[in-house]
Amino acid sequence: MIKIPSHIENLAPYKPGKPGANMFGDAKPQRQVVLSSNENNFGPSPLGMKALSEQLGRMNLYPDPTSDALKEQLSLKVNFPKECILLGNGSDAILYSMFKAFLEPGKSMLTSHGAFVSAKVMARMNNVPCVEVPMVGNHCFDLDGIISAIDATTGLIYIVNPNNPTGQMISYHEITSFLDKVPGHILVVVDEAYSEFADALSSNYPDCAHLGYDNVLVLRTFSKAYGLAGLRLGYALGPEYIIRALTKVKLTFDPNLAAQIAGLASLQDTSFLQMTIDNNVREMKKLTDAYSRLGFDYIPSVANFITLCLKDEAEVETYYHSLLSRGVLTRRLASFGLPDCLRISIGKPDENDYMLEMLEDVKNTMNQQS
Ligand SMILES: Cc1ncc(COP(=O)(O)O)c(C=O)c1O
Repeated sequence: MIKIPSHIENLAPYKPGKPGANMFGDAKPQRQVVLSSNENNFGPSPLGMKALSEQLGRMNLYPDPTSDALKEQLSLKVNFPKECILLGNGSDAILYSMFKAFLEPGKSMLTSHGAFVSAKVMARMNNVPCVEVPMVGNHCFDLDGIISAIDATTGLIYIVNPNNPTGQMISYHEITSFLDKVPGHILVVVDEAYSEFADALSSNYPDCAHLGYDNVLVLRTFSKAYGLAGLRLGYALGPEYIIRALTKVKLTFDPNLAAQIAGLASLQDTSFLQMTIDNNVREMKKLTDAYSRLGFDYIPSVANFITLCLKDEAEVETYYHSLLSRGVLTRRLASFGLPDCLRISIGKPDENDYMLEMLEDVKNTMNQQS
């Protein structure tokens, strides 16, 4: 019998926002709205899907392991040198490679409580200790606290901007004064999975790839604004020596050919991207106004979701299940360390309207019962 290493035996895997195919359980509500995983509910980019369907006959071929054509276009799109870009099977595959490439035994990861949980699960998978600094204020990263927590073991600092699941943003001034204080031998990963939305919602949102630090790596993804979550495509922007090291440890044929084809065409689909972003700006205003009107406490967000702060975990459970039975799937956040919070993605206008109607209905029902 094989002995499973204790860090794997005891590992609690990442819990996705959608609990399998039968998301709505036996209730089978007539209308079903999925607002649990911060996906693009307008679907994938139409130009991406057209290119993919035209090239399905090429799926017998291995993909270009360097993703050269996609890198070339991405380089133009994000104004970053091609040799400083790495494509991966989702940004989480690049995060995974980071542990292999940079974290020698004895090193630890430093991050915030309430930060996107996937990196913490990966640290545990790799037997890397993870130090979490408590948040401050209204669910903000305590950047000074993170600086104070740096010690001789710190190998990687994981920052998420805006953070999932809080949606809170770190401003240009805050991140630059933080990065100025981090010793240059520590790798700082800034996960910007929601950058396209944040850019449109705040004039103060920093583009960390262009700040010029040689220990900073930025992660972005095609999963959110581009609507390609199912195909798995993400990228890293960083100094060439870091990209070179990461390239050595990535699986040779990541990302797959379908993702490369769809990603390349999606980059040309500027009208789909703009429509997605414009919708998010409009619906963010509509939803935050409605949450205030209904008396919900929410965390200010510059992403494509808003997190409600409820009384306690029991109230979260009540809202989650009551919304589910009315056909609205949301996300509980106990596994992110925020048991009294409920995250609701921003969908299409009619989906958001339906969700608000159901939310109000649940609130009224609860008020009548109390
Ligand atoms: C902050 C953050 N980073 C990364 C990811 C995963 O991105 P990908 O689909 O590219 O692996 C997510 C997905 O929800 C996220 O919220």
